[in-house]
Amino acid sequence: STLLGGLDIGGTKCAAVLGRAEGDRIEIVGKRSFPTPDTPEEAMASLCDELAGLAASAGGGEPLAAVGVSCGGPLDSRRGRILSPPNLPGWDGIDVLTPLRERFGVPAALQNDANACALAEWRWGAGRGASSMIFLTFGTGMGAGLILNGALYAGASDMAGEIGHIRLAEEGPVGYGKAGSFEGFCSGGGIARLFAGLKEAAAETAARSSAGAGGMAPQSGGSGEDAWTAKDVFEAAAAGDALARHAVGIIGRKLGRGLAVLVDTLNPERIVIGSIYARQEQVLRPLVLEELRREALPGTLAACQILPSELGEHVGDAASLSVALHALGEHKRGNN
Ligand code: BGC
Ligand code: NA
Repeated sequence: STLLGGLDIGGTKCAAVLGRAEGDRIEIVGKRSFPTPDTPEEAMASLCDELAGLAASAGGGEPLAAVGVSCGGPLDSRRGRILSPPNLPGWDGIDVLTPLRERFGVPAALQNDANACALAEWRWGAGRGASSMIFLTFGTGMGAGLILNGALYAGASDMAGEIGHIRLAEEGPVGYGKAGSFEGFCSGGGIARLFAGLKEAAAETAARSSAGAGGMAPQSGGSGEDAWTAKDVFEAAAAGDALARHAVGIIGRKLGRGLAVLVDTLNPERIVIGSIYARQEQVLRPLVLEELRREALPGTLAACQILPSELGEHVGDAASLSVALHALGEHKRGNN
């Protein structure tokens, strides 16, 4: 088996992961995660320390064969640099591979998190055996990784799959620097902002009608300690809260709208969706399918399976390890 190191750099959390690849299987043997530090320098130093600690303990001192880094983009995987990612302010231009190569002396590679998740699901999860599949993150951010004709498609400037930036409506919650974007409707922060907006509008309507009736205006909510997370919204919807159910309806239909664009553009065999979709599949799937039936070509829709991530909560760990495996392959081919 091959001992691999992985680093997952996210907008909210960072993790160092240790894994063993054996044939077509991956085993995660250790993981340490922590809230993303304020500066990239601190984050990289802690990640390197944690990975070295894991290799010494869980890895029994066996040397790592390669290290992979998975991170939100945009980024330049060839130069190993992160470029102005919307969910990682302060990381513009940061070189993540040089410190890793210096510290561990092994091949290292960087990949966009959604691309890395796509590789992981393709190798070890719901994408196995597909010749074309798309992975959607739907967590802190919305991004896609594209496997087309049996290979990762990165695009002319490494930005293929930056679908969070696509505008789905003229108005709506802000995500990826744009109101009404795919990331605005379909990401953790976007859902929180969508719900805050709905709550504020509902409070205004209530205030207006009770003022008209001569009553007292209720306090308006929607921000501060009143702020609901995406998880709160789904829980309240499940408990029957009307406004939360309305929000979930919007989220599901916008996800379907975004998927219709992908299905009609790329005609993929499978679409695999992580995080929030994987956790809320029961409530989101019917809404997504309803919208897809309305929006996508019947022929592209019939050819495509929409699946939750099979690696589930482990997809991020497996993602960074799949990048390490890729680095090793490139190295053996003499491209590193
Ligand atoms: C980033 C993408 C990333 C996605 C998921 C987006 O905000 O721009 O590169 O894949 O979030 O983390
Ligand atoms: Na991508």
